[in-house]
Amino acid sequence: MIQLKNIERSYKTGAGQTWVLRRINLEIREGEFVTIMGPSGAGKSSLLNILALLDDQWLGEYWFRDEPAHAMNRKQRAELAKRNVGMVFQSYHLLDDLTVAENIDLPLSYKNMPRSERQGLVADTLDHFNIVGKKDLFPSQLSGGQQQLVGIARAVIHKPSLLLADEPTGNLHSTQAKEIMELFRRLNSEGTTIVQVTHSDANAAYGSRIIEVHDGWMTRDTSNPELTPATGQK
Ligand SMILES: Nc1ncnc2c1ncn2[C@@H]1O[C@H](COP(=O)(O)OP(=O)(O)OP(=O)(O)O)[C@@H](O)[C@H]1O
Ligand SMILES: [Mg+2]
Repeated sequence: MIQLKNIERSYKTGAGQTWVLRRINLEIREGEFVTIMGPSGAGKSSLLNILALLDDQWLGEYWFRDEPAHAMNRKQRAELAKRNVGMVFQSYHLLDDLTVAENIDLPLSYKNMPRSERQGLVADTLDHFNIVGKKDLFPSQLSGGQQQLVGIARAVIHKPSLLLADEPTGNLHSTQAKEIMELFRRLNSEGTTIVQVTHSDANAAYGSRIIEVHDGWMTRDTSNPELTPATGQK
């Protein structure tokens, strides 16, 4: 589904340049459930933002189902993302001036879906996530965990073929976290490809493959035993 070839990302800092991703070569197949792990600052969110087609300040090649994202302009990339990707952000990224229901409805607005069907789907999703009573509130009126649930609801409502989740349960009670992971497992069994970032071994156990990132380098990939810390790359 996805092929990254020699992806590199750096930021300009003062006079110099800081590298946050180095020579990332990664193939993700349809239907995989991949976990990215690594210390704080390793580059996990940076990698996820690239996969989500949100970032365009990188070098290398990104193939999405044979489409060259690296050769696309901003509009084409955004279009590709809207059609295929759901993203749960580490810091929620809800739109402050939209209500909970409007935030959740957002991905559906990109689809040609009749209004009544959309409303029904939003109602079902609010119900599923136990946030019906919050539907007319704004994000600033919610707790961190509630905002996280809204962010997850928004990411999955349009059944994306690729679900990216950055610490999706970081702010949730363990029971809620387990429910979310069970939801991910079900979506994955129905065909959704998932890439999650987590520090939790329990969450990682839901996936089928673990990738470790350290200082911007991919240092481990359970699908590729040849990738060892000694070489740092393929
Ligand atoms: N806008 C920016 N400008 C400069 N440096 C940045 C910027 N955004 C991220 N970085 C740097 O990129 C590196 C990787 O950050 P990233 O957010 O990808 O880490 P992470 O692995 O997701 O960490 P965490 O587990 O804490 O979420 C960090 O050293 C960070 O300082
Ligand atoms: Mg992060």
